[in-house]
Amino acid sequence: MPRNVILIGYRGTGKTTVARLLASRLGWNWIDADQFLETKYATAIRRIFEQEGEAGFREKESVVLADLCQRERHVIATGGGAILREANRVLLKGAGIVIWIRLDADAIWARLVSDPSSSERRPPLTDKNGREEVEELLAIREPLYRSTADLEIDATGLGPEDVAKEILTRIQAA
Ligand code: S3P
Repeated sequence: MPRNVILIGYRGTGKTTVARLLASRLGWNWIDADQFLETKYATAIRRIFEQEGEAGFREKESVVLADLCQRERHVIATGGGAILREANRVLLKGAGIVIWIRLDADAIWARLVSDPSSSERRPPLTDKNGREEVEELLAIREPLYRSTADLEIDATGLGPEDVAKEILTRIQAA
């Protein structure tokens, strides 16, 4: 078994729910890096973006990831941009098995619009409209998700239970 299981992928791919389900199947703990960050800094991510910009958020995100990557027997859900910094990618790869939950732009966009709390919680990342933002950022991020991941799970048409089961099967076989 790996030391930890680390979930990466774009917003809306279900990382947090899958982390919880997978941890309960493994009998491990789970942690969501964004929730941990908001608790540690006692503020909402959206507010950090408003006050310090994305750069301020990325600094805090790296501090949090360095802490979480020292744990053992955790399923760790990361924020969608956690793979942007090379130092984070190295850290994540060294902490356990990294799994990319993959969806295409249409599926991601459909999930984001169907989640009414999404736009309140999630700060805009570009000045593009939502659907275009997903496409633009996926073009940049997909190569980074791919190069960081040990395993890819295509979540198209799958619910979080199915994704958790698929991950379990794949890590047991790995
Ligand atoms: C971000 C995704 C968010 C959060 C922050 C930035 C991104 O995490 O870390 O708003 O750059 O894609 P989720 O993927 O959990 O929504």
